[in-house]
Amino acid sequence: MTTQIVVFVGSLSKESINRKLAQAVVKLAPADFAVEFAEIGDLPHYNRDDDAQQAGAVRRVKAQIAQADGLLFVTPEYNRSIPSVLKNVIDHGSRPYGDNSWAGKPAGILGTSPGGIGSAIAQQHLRGILASQGIKVLAQPDAYLQFRDGLLTDDGQVGEGSRAFLQAWVDAFAQWVLAHKA
Ligand code: FNR
Repeated sequence: MTTQIVVFVGSLSKESINRKLAQAVVKLAPADFAVEFAEIGDLPHYNRDDDAQQAGAVRRVKAQIAQADGLLFVTPEYNRSIPSVLKNVIDHGSRPYGDNSWAGKPAGILGTSPGGIGSAIAQQHLRGILASQGIKVLAQPDAYLQFRDGLLTDDGQVGEGSRAFLQAWVDAFAQWVLAHKA
């Protein structure tokens, strides 16, 4: 049976290094894992006044979360935290009150930055936010990736120097998801 993974990239940039990382990393997943990327750029700003009539894009993302066996968050660090677009989808998914789409889902976090700490502060903030939603976040191994030449190849694969490290991360993530599969 297929295991369904939904990926949330915390960047809307066409040139996003985090999207490129996510696209390369999912190629390391087991063959029976089906991966889809959630579209979060068309979500309105979360407004609790809309809880009773959520927008179509919000209902689409909540349905995507509901049918996921596992979630992968790949986030940049913006001003020492997560980008607002990522917080926005988390807020949407958590509502209306009593209908939290995130609760109980297993998840992993990755992120990359040109800076030396490789999105570590954003990832740490994200851990706390996801835990508050009842998401079961893989604790170890963690991966704070500095984006530099060679991390990814021109044809969108994980580079040789990081292959073993990221394959081990994906293997642990896959085990984590399977262990929590409903
Ligand atoms: C950044 N960047 C950044 N990098 C970092 O390591 N720590 C930080 O706090 C920030 N802050 C920050 C704020 C804003 C508004 C921008 C636009 C950028 C740099 C950031 O890591 C870099 O632009 C990445 O390329 C962003 O990831 P994506 O969008 O390419 O996936």
